[in-house]
Amino acid sequence: MSRGTWIGTGWKMNKNLAETEDYAAKLIAFLLQGTVKKLNIFIVPPFTVLRSLCDLMKGTDVMVGAQNMHWELQGAFTGEISPLMIMDCGAQLVELGHSERRAYFGETDYTVNKKVLSALKVGLRPLICVGEPTQEKERGTTGEFVLRQVRIALHRVSKNQISNVLLAYEPVWAIGDQGIPAEPQYANRIHQLIRELLIELYDGETAVNVPILYGGSVDHDNARVFIDEPEIDGLFVGRAAWQAESFIQLLDLISEFINSS
Ligand code: PGA
Repeated sequence: MSRGTWIGTGWKMNKNLAETEDYAAKLIAFLLQGTVKKLNIFIVPPFTVLRSLCDLMKGTDVMVGAQNMHWELQGAFTGEISPLMIMDCGAQLVELGHSERRAYFGETDYTVNKKVLSALKVGLRPLICVGEPTQEKERGTTGEFVLRQVRIALHRVSKNQISNVLLAYEPVWAIGDQGIPAEPQYANRIHQLIRELLIELYDGETAVNVPILYGGSVDHDNARVFIDEPEIDGLFVGRAAWQAESFIQLLDLISEFINSS
């Protein structure tokens, strides 16, 4: 099994250039100590500091990603950012379908799919976010809901391309200030269902290598318990990683945990 352990943070609409430089300097100083091992680390900053953060992270193994993109490569799309522009900044990843984009900016499973295909075509690694709203959880239809999102997002994604995809299961009710973290076993069950769908769509050998991350109110108290679940391959963290010190602590504790267990 080679999908590794992934820890990343999405900054959402936070941080100016000075704050980005400060964060990067602290993170680099920490990584130079060499205590963190076998972790795939990524940061998803806002567009305005994307190129700067890519430059700052050069020479480290930290990957940088954008928070969204248009599916077209160029053209008359005022206010949009193309995958080629993201590549040009030096980024490797692009986050697609976050629940805030679905809720406030009209993102749908169909636009997510167009973006996924476009990202893969130019060589960007899509981080596809899926997750059910409260009503689906209450109705007991989380599995169907999430699998539909995954199925549409991956429409026409080939067996060769799927190895470049990252998935994040982020229940809508778990995200943000009002969020309640999912029960780790509950999250693991949904990850397992996603894995079974990947096996059905591709094959076992291919599907086993696709990392599935959990996101939604991850913090220092619950991070280890999530990572300990067999189908949870990583964490996508918001608030608990917005301060460099806090992200560093998380990296430290997860690295220690996976390297000792
Ligand atoms: P949170 O955000 O960790 O602040 O709940 C997670 C996310 O939106 O990915």
